[in-house]
Amino acid sequence: MSVPIDAGSGKITVPDVQARKSRLSPSKSASRKLVCVTAYDFPTARIVDDAGVDVVLVGDSLAMVVLGCADTLSLTMPEMLHHTRAVRRGVRRALLVADMPYGSYQIRESEAVRNATKFIKAGAEAIKIEGGERRASLISRLVDAEIPVMAHIGLTPQSVHSFGGFKVQGKTIDAAEQLLRDARAVEAAGAFSVVLESMPRELAAQITQELRIPTIGIGAGPDCDGQILVLHDLIGLGSARIPKFARRYVNVGESISRAVADYAEDVRSERFPSDRESYHMSGDVREHWPAAALEPAKTHDA
Ligand code: KIV
Repeated sequence: MSVPIDAGSGKITVPDVQARKSRLSPSKSASRKLVCVTAYDFPTARIVDDAGVDVVLVGDSLAMVVLGCADTLSLTMPEMLHHTRAVRRGVRRALLVADMPYGSYQIRESEAVRNATKFIKAGAEAIKIEGGERRASLISRLVDAEIPVMAHIGLTPQSVHSFGGFKVQGKTIDAAEQLLRDARAVEAAGAFSVVLESMPRELAAQITQELRIPTIGIGAGPDCDGQILVLHDLIGLGSARIPKFARRYVNVGESISRAVADYAEDVRSERFPSDRESYHMSGDVREHWPAAALEPAKTHDA
């Protein structure tokens, strides 16, 4: 049986996440790995928060795992804000981070900052943007505007067309060195943490060793300061195929399918709803009601 992660009951803040950098933490408990997961709506946000995760990300993976898109590029500001507000209502303890959608920050910095403030007003405590060195200036601007930034380097899905697909990054010496420079740049610009997505384990380990901010891996091996997974991969809801780096802990899709098939069977065989699942007229109304209509109430009880 799985038990909730015992991470204490205090609210997780940006400084708490920073303090969880493995090599900087003086105590064993402070250096526990960061547990991060995505959520896109109120009920799942409440469930993952109650399970004791440290960070809930309203990821733009929403486009793919909830809205059925082939990539994340079509997602808009209003859509991301809508889901951020829903997740905000469900999260009480974890740090709430929101992804800025494609096109909302690859623009004039002043406009990007204005877009980022909308996420803070919607209840996010930090935002995440993709890109390394080329985002350094924007990260500084956001931090100046009191907006904590989680950076994201490696396989950044908003660059899917530039990469020619969802491909592991940092596989050549040049590419690995560029990712090291990206990691150093986002740290120097003031990001409080950085997601490392789909890169060789050895490269992620080197970045984790060099940086003073926590690294959060997804497809980057076990040496990062924390891990993040897309909730739908973890619970088995949606596509039958999950990435090599994800682990499916339960098959919720199968449970939903079984439940709906049972419901359909009960409706068709008139076992649902039962009399106990029905409302009834009060006695004085029944007295004035045609007797024939009162007959079915005597039958079909569970
Ligand atoms: O959108 C997302 O879910 C993400 C995580 C996979 C890091 O960016």
